[in-house]
Amino acid sequence: MEIKKAEFVSSHTSLAKLPKTHLPEFAFIGRSNVGKSSLINMLCNKKSLAKTSSTPGKTQTINHFIINNEWYLVDLPGYGYARAPGNLRKLWSGFTFDYLIKRPNLICVMLLIDLRHKPQNTDMQFMEWLGINKIPFAIVFTKADKLTNALLKENVRKYLEELKNTWEELPTYFVTSSVKRTGRQELLSFFEKYSQRAIK
Ligand code: GTP
Ligand code: MG
Repeated sequence: MEIKKAEFVSSHTSLAKLPKTHLPEFAFIGRSNVGKSSLINMLCNKKSLAKTSSTPGKTQTINHFIINNEWYLVDLPGYGYARAPGNLRKLWSGFTFDYLIKRPNLICVMLLIDLRHKPQNTDMQFMEWLGINKIPFAIVFTKADKLTNALLKENVRKYLEELKNTWEELPTYFVTSSVKRTGRQELLSFFEKYSQRAIK
């Protein structure tokens, strides 16, 4: 699939105000600064579609982008930056949880993880929370350009190893870099497959 058109639609902090639509959507989630907004821009070939910053906490609202007039990418605020893990609900705005639990056309949560760090409690807890709430998710490892190929492979292996402690079946995962445009086609194929399945 190719993205022919990508447009900003809206930015909200309450579920009631989000676009009323049956079109499928994929939401980007993860710790602040992991690269959610940058990845949306890379996928859409538009540098400033989603606002990015080197300072964590840039995205603070639910941002909808419509792609090819057929499906949505959603940029969410980051969680858990520089705060003690343990109580996700306190760390992260209630409206984001509300969105994840109640949005009927949310097809899959794309959970972004920076491969330079060891598995973090906040991410593990968040995955468990997704599992308990039966919200489908895939893992997107980010900033692959910051690691050598050997270290990248090793860190992916370690991460999957850690996941096996909790998960019987490992989630689908992608390795990406917004700088080198790594993983773009793989992600677009995934969106194509699942959005068409949802429309049928
Ligand atoms: P919040 O909105 O604060 O939650 O952050 P975010 O997850 O949207 O991160 P954002 O896309 O704003 O990127 C954070 C920083 O990481 C910026 O300085 C980006 O330039 C940088 N960055 C994002 N993706 C990549 C990547 O693939 N490679 C490298 N080297 N830097 C990246
Ligand atoms: Mg952001």
